[in-house]
Amino acid sequence: MSTARVPSTLWRAGVPRVRPAGAWALGGGGVPRLLSPAGTPVDPSWRAHLARHGPMPPIDSAAARARLWDELSRAGILGRGGAGFPMIRKLRAVAPGGRSPVVVANGTEGEPASDKDKVLLLQAPHLVVDGIAAAAALVGARRAFLVVSEEVLPAAEAAVRERAGGRTGRYEALRIEVAPAARGFVAGEASAVVNWVQGGAPLPRMTPPRLVERGMGNRPTLVQNVETLAHLALVARHGADWYRGTGTIEEPGSMLVTLSGAFARRGVYEVAIGTPLLGVLDIGGADPDDLGAVLLGGYSASWVRAGDLRSLVLSRESLRRVGASPGAGIVAALPRNRCGLVESARVVTYLAGESAGQCGPCVFGLAAIAGEFERLARPGDADLARLRRWIDQVDGRGACAHPDGVARFARSALGVFAAEVDRHLEGECSGTDDEAVLPLTPAEGR
Ligand SMILES: Cc1cc2nc3c(=O)[nH]c(=O)nc-3n(C[C@H](O)[C@H](O)[C@H](O)COP(=O)(O)O)c2cc1C
Ligand code: SF4
Repeated sequence: MSTARVPSTLWRAGVPRVRPAGAWALGGGGVPRLLSPAGTPVDPSWRAHLARHGPMPPIDSAAARARLWDELSRAGILGRGGAGFPMIRKLRAVAPGGRSPVVVANGTEGEPASDKDKVLLLQAPHLVVDGIAAAAALVGARRAFLVVSEEVLPAAEAAVRERAGGRTGRYEALRIEVAPAARGFVAGEASAVVNWVQGGAPLPRMTPPRLVERGMGNRPTLVQNVETLAHLALVARHGADWYRGTGTIEEPGSMLVTLSGAFARRGVYEVAIGTPLLGVLDIGGADPDDLGAVLLGGYSASWVRAGDLRSLVLSRESLRRVGASPGAGIVAALPRNRCGLVESARVVTYLAGESAGQCGPCVFGLAAIAGEFERLARPGDADLARLRRWIDQVDGRGACAHPDGVARFARSALGVFAAEVDRHLEGECSGTDDEAVLPLTPAEGR
């Protein structure tokens, strides 16, 4: 399946229904960096890419690679796939392997509330290709896979094709294959992506070794989110000082965010890390006074009360204070008159159904939690103590972090909507809006 081509129906479908992205320069320092500036036409071609970003500097000598290692370690890029893991640490873990490693660019984007990887691949696919090439040069890989959701497969394939025929120059030793991603929330987990591209089911790996030791074809494997790789491409061109010219000291750079739910202007935007959350709401045309809460980071992350947003910025450090995280840049706004427990029950039930079915606590525990959460969402007779106990019991009990993510989300819902929990236990609900808000399929978010 690794070299599988897009079905012809998808080719005919043309450009997917992804909302055009805007870009805002809150925080200064040259944002947007990845996306096209708002109001300018989007041109994903190689020619337009070179006109905007210039060519990549050579990385074909030991001295050039040493320089890039140095820039990268000073840049401090954190992964944009959700966990915010330092990129340099993963690259270092892969680099010393005896066999030539493999690079996997993860554009699976299994989160229904996220569109940022699709928009990036539609607008700037060559930045992702450059990032793959730079990562491959650093770790000594000769093979790479660009795994993308089907909606943007033609765009990714076109970009890689444009780079073929010698035009990749110094990267010609690298073979990049484009593969359609599997669908499903768990399919984007790194080991599930590797299994899928190798022809297996998109299921997370149950046992060691780690991918950085033995992944694709038993070679050391570097899996990075496509946005992380696009930032690497810019660090390779402009260096660490430029990269650190926006964002915060601890978390430099810009990040892509997907705004969904109660926004007047939903879509994908690029913002400086450290942008006040009220500024992010403003970009999407949401008034915090009209909101009950905002889900930040994604369905493995946490709700934040609307009243807390004023003092917070979009950074891990700031959001940690309220037990939240920017995750993969998801910002989903819940209107004030929509019950947060009803919304959360929808998501928990969805997530329980997305279990990859391999680990008992995940399969049975998440189903039980979803059932009890659904009962809580219907004012009346839920057993809150039992729900809390079950949530604690699944934490850390899976081969992958899916149950931990569900536990985090469910706990945050019980905390942020605590007053509503009390109301439901008394048989009442303050929600007056029946319309579902959080998308459970990518198309619902648009
Ligand atoms: C259940 C689950 C789903 C995930 N889905 C995605 C995904 O769709 N895209 C992604 O880049 N990372 C996803 N991840 C994270 C990957 O496992 C991996 O950490 C990431 O691709 C590494 O990229 P980064 O370090 O550049 O962020 C998921 C993780 C889990 C536990
Ligand atoms: S924890 Fe759940 S999603 Fe992860 S591997 Fe086990 S069954 Fe699959």
